[in-house]
Amino acid sequence: ENAQLKDIISHAKEYGFVYPSSEIYDGLQAVYDYGAYGVELKNNLKRLWWETMTRVSGNIVGIDAAIFMHPTTWKASGHVDSFNDPMIDNKDSKKRYRADVLVEEHAAKLENEGQVEKAKSLTAALARLLEAEDLAGVRDLITNEGIKCPISGTSNWTDVRQFNLMFSTQVGSVAEDASTIYLRPETAQGIFVNFLNVQKTARMKVPFGIAQIGKAFRNEIVARQFIFRMREFEQMEMQFFVRPGTELDWYQKWADTRMRWHLALGTPAAKLRKHDHEKLAHYANAAMDIEFEFPFGFKEVEGIHSRTDFDLKSHQEYSKKKQQYFDPEIIQNYIPYVIETSIGADRLFLLTLCNAYTEEKTEEKSRTYLKFHPAVAPVKAAILPIVKKDGLPEKAQEIVNLLKYDFNIIYEDSGSIGKRYTRQDLIGTPFCIAVDHQTLEDNTVTIRHRDTTEQERVAISELHGRIAEATSF
Ligand code: GAP
Repeated sequence: ENAQLKDIISHAKEYGFVYPSSEIYDGLQAVYDYGAYGVELKNNLKRLWWETMTRVSGNIVGIDAAIFMHPTTWKASGHVDSFNDPMIDNKDSKKRYRADVLVEEHAAKLENEGQVEKAKSLTAALARLLEAEDLAGVRDLITNEGIKCPISGTSNWTDVRQFNLMFSTQVGSVAEDASTIYLRPETAQGIFVNFLNVQKTARMKVPFGIAQIGKAFRNEIVARQFIFRMREFEQMEMQFFVRPGTELDWYQKWADTRMRWHLALGTPAAKLRKHDHEKLAHYANAAMDIEFEFPFGFKEVEGIHSRTDFDLKSHQEYSKKKQQYFDPEIIQNYIPYVIETSIGADRLFLLTLCNAYTEEKTEEKSRTYLKFHPAVAPVKAAILPIVKKDGLPEKAQEIVNLLKYDFNIIYEDSGSIGKRYTRQDLIGTPFCIAVDHQTLEDNTVTIRHRDTTEQERVAISELHGRIAEATSF
């Protein structure tokens, strides 16, 4: 793994952001747990997304659908038949790989070695074979190229098979008539099957949206790069229902709106880009990704998809229930078209962490800190009495009580003040508030700013307003 990513992973673990799941048993691949500061950061990101979608937009409402859904949902959505990755096993190491990823990585290696044309023709051949669903051809490509298993070093491969990414389980006791259900691989279907419920009960008129945040599960074969690709993750999805024929305008609008949101959160424009899909999913007539430059290159953070009427139409067909909307403006019934914005909360978390992670080295000193936008920082302020006597802890506690109902605040009185500043830098706290003897006399404190390390004297009565202003979004 890339050196900078390694530093970020160990920082995330050491300072209470992300741990491998069930670590005492050596972890579970591609599953992670969030620690004390991680959960605060993730909640802040989710809240900001939720508020911009539902409250600020004015024509989007939320729902919270169950993870389990009627199994026919996944027939109708196309996931049972087409949510597959081509996989291949090495007979010696018994390791399983994604066949397409093996070829892509081989092509990348060739490119690095200067064989640019060869690499290009290899990726083009792969694309053609995948398009034609020619799995035997993909296997031939792998063997003809002599691509070796990174573990065993041999090219003793099985056939390429399609591998469905959905996790399944049984409902009901096995003895009785138990049936197979799936853990949802996307939250979107919970929105589609509730389209009419929400439209009618919230009295929404097209165009309008439904937003949801929730867990999704995929049995990813290639699980790497920390929380970039997980088997259990969280999605933040919004389905925007529009009049047929207007969808491509809305698609552009949403792509721009979402891009502005990322910029407002402090992600530099140079690290973001839009990437149009060449190969469209079975449900889309246009699709793009918003990509971020992670330490391992530009990669997808969010997808914007024009899903046509594919999902609602298919649910109408399978359920035999009309999924139509009566548009009073044009006096017509139709199945709305859908623009979807879909972002992984964990992937946005990784973006935020990568963006914030800062190592500063000057001749005199080096400093590592997390430069979070104050709106998402897990802790907004640390209240630090400079000594543990003379009534300073009590005074500091009064300040905590003044702020804690509106902001996540830390109180700390152990260690030198310098060490305490450093600890707050490492978790990205924007303000350290030092309480000293002068505070007892004139009710002022020192604010030390995380990014500049500059200090200023302010009145206690100003603190609430100062923090509120800095942490607003
Ligand atoms: N409803 C459309 C949909 O699910 P997707 O491109 O498969 O589209 C959308 O996923 C977003 O969900 C991605 O852009 C990514 O942020 C996140 N995501 C997808 N698979 C993920 C995984 N295995 N681990 C973490 N995040 C994932």
